[in-house]
Amino acid sequence: MNMASIGIICIFSLIYISAGTATAPSAFVTVQCKPDHVGQYGQQSLLECVVNATQKDVTIRVVAWKKADETSLLVFNKEKITTQVPGYMFAEPSWNTKNMNISLLINNTDSKDEGGYVCMVMTDRGTANNQTRLKVRAKYNKPTIKSVPETIIENADGSLACTSSGGYPEGRLRWFDEHNVEWMKSAQMEAEKTQSGLFKLSSKLTLLRGSIFSKYTCKVYNANGDAEDEVTFEIPSKQEGREGEKEMNSASKIVAPLVVIGSLIAGLLLVVIVYRRRSQQARRPSTAPLMSDHQAVPYIPGDEADDHQQMDIESQKSLA
Ligand SMILES: *[C@@H]1O[C@H](CO)[C@@H](O)[C@H](O)[C@H]1NC(C)=O
Repeated sequence: MNMASIGIICIFSLIYISAGTATAPSAFVTVQCKPDHVGQYGQQSLLECVVNATQKDVTIRVVAWKKADETSLLVFNKEKITTQVPGYMFAEPSWNTKNMNISLLINNTDSKDEGGYVCMVMTDRGTANNQTRLKVRAKYNKPTIKSVPETIIENADGSLACTSSGGYPEGRLRWFDEHNVEWMKSAQMEAEKTQSGLFKLSSKLTLLRGSIFSKYTCKVYNANGDAEDEVTFEIPSKQEGREGEKEMNSASKIVAPLVVIGSLIAGLLLVVIVYRRRSQQARRPSTAPLMSDHQAVPYIPGDEADDHQQMDIESQKSLA
């Protein structure tokens, strides 16, 4: 940081402090910001601020965008950008000192971007600043349910574990049975902040023997209390007969196509065999006399080369 920028920050601070008591600096120039913004995690967010001046032809000399904790994100000072954290830029693609739209664009919104921002501006007609806030949102993934043990048995205790991740800020998981009655007391939820800053929610529902319903739904709610997604888990039916039936069904699902394919193949083979037999029988009258003597190969009209016929005889011998 050079002396000039330290000087500017000092001037800003002075004006900032004096602005509280005297409104003189903002008489001609004000910064108007949308007070609240909502950004989607991983996407672009726009923090809208515009300079308003009572006079025309105002030239902007300095713009400074900071986080509420004083970290500078984007500083324009004397014709050039002096500070720019990667991923933060003027929303106006070719912003210049005559452009009163000093909105900030955050390229890849992170959960860390949530919070307050201060936007300060210095023009040839006066100085002003304002604040704005960004809330970051990320939608939770469809929850998944696993049962412990893997197959819940009617006359034994068990539990269901539901998880959903990738959301922000912290949300909630809630359990409902097939009658849409919530199971609050038997459920225990935990929220874990992952490395990405997003939350992973997990909830365990205890199932007591004798009072197990056939279906349980786990719903994920965002921080505003809106349901985002859900998943339903069906407890396998208690009757063992049903289970056996199911297995039979799945077995016949495999067997049926095999039977069809098998009979098709068998049919084809039959056709081939019958065809072969027929063609052999058709030739027999001409070749039969040769069976006794291979040396003598008489000329048979319509038949092909001699050696060819010889082979035919050989193969017939081996067949017989
Ligand atoms: C400021 O510029 C951004 C980017 O071009 C635009 O989306 C936004 O609507 C502008 N705001 C105003 C108040 O003109």
